[in-house]
Amino acid sequence: MIVSGSASQSLAASLAAELGEPLADVSFDRFPDGELLASVPSLAEGARPDRAVVVASTVSSDAHVELLQLQDAAREAGVEEVVTVVPYMGYARQDEAFAAGHPVSARAVARAISTGADRVLTVNPHERAVCDFFDPPATAVDAAPALADPLPGDLADPVFLSPDAGAVGIAESVRDARGEGEVDYFEKTRHSGTEVEIAPSDVDVTDRDVVIVDDIIATGGTMSEAVGVCCDRGAGRAFVACVHPLLARNAYARLSRAGVEKIYGTDTIEGSASAVSVASVLAEALS
Ligand code: R5P
Repeated sequence: MIVSGSASQSLAASLAAELGEPLADVSFDRFPDGELLASVPSLAEGARPDRAVVVASTVSSDAHVELLQLQDAAREAGVEEVVTVVPYMGYARQDEAFAAGHPVSARAVARAISTGADRVLTVNPHERAVCDFFDPPATAVDAAPALADPLPGDLADPVFLSPDAGAVGIAESVRDARGEGEVDYFEKTRHSGTEVEIAPSDVDVTDRDVVIVDDIIATGGTMSEAVGVCCDRGAGRAFVACVHPLLARNAYARLSRAGVEKIYGTDTIEGSASAVSVASVLAEALS
């Protein structure tokens, strides 16, 4: 049985179809004091599947709480195995203590999820090492190759660029899936949560279409700088692709204003840029 968090309903439905498993009826309520109650009426109807797959991107603090509640509801109903799929794991970028007195937030949330899961899957976390924070076996699934699918067929002498060295593997995956193009990366310096500086790569982008690839677009600061650099250097069209299109605050407009033709993301975060589903890679990992 597939049990969906409120932020992952479309992906959960696709996953249920891929696996041929039933999609649970899930209910989301809020008490007058603001507390949440995510429950699974399907389990009250007597269904006791061997396995419950809880699919919930933790895009907000509320989504974290929902996930814990759904895991617990499955356990309470006597389900034998609870597999938790966190397509987008919030707080994953806080994978170390950045100053004295800071928590390792990714570890804190992983520990909480671990209490209710027998197995965990997540998709392209910022660092794969985040999987080590979970107590049960945890796997990072790679959805990056699927980002090549929606790209236009007529890319002109394409260059696949990552905004920093850390994401060059994702850019390579997209290029390999596409079957053509050069790969390079920028040097990135972050000045604040929203402002970054991008140093140009050596590759000549003049009159070539660029596809800038990253694991996540949050505020859009990184991508808009990278696109600006490419446009200044005479690139053709600029496309951006990411696994997690968080697109917080004014990110969409910021990217459009920077000259982006189109933003391609996956449904780890469901929204206007979710062009690709990660359901099939998840289904493969769950089969
Ligand atoms: C950081 O290294 C990540 O790979 C992303 O580049 C970053 O988190 C994107 O954040 P923003 O969109 O806020 O620049």
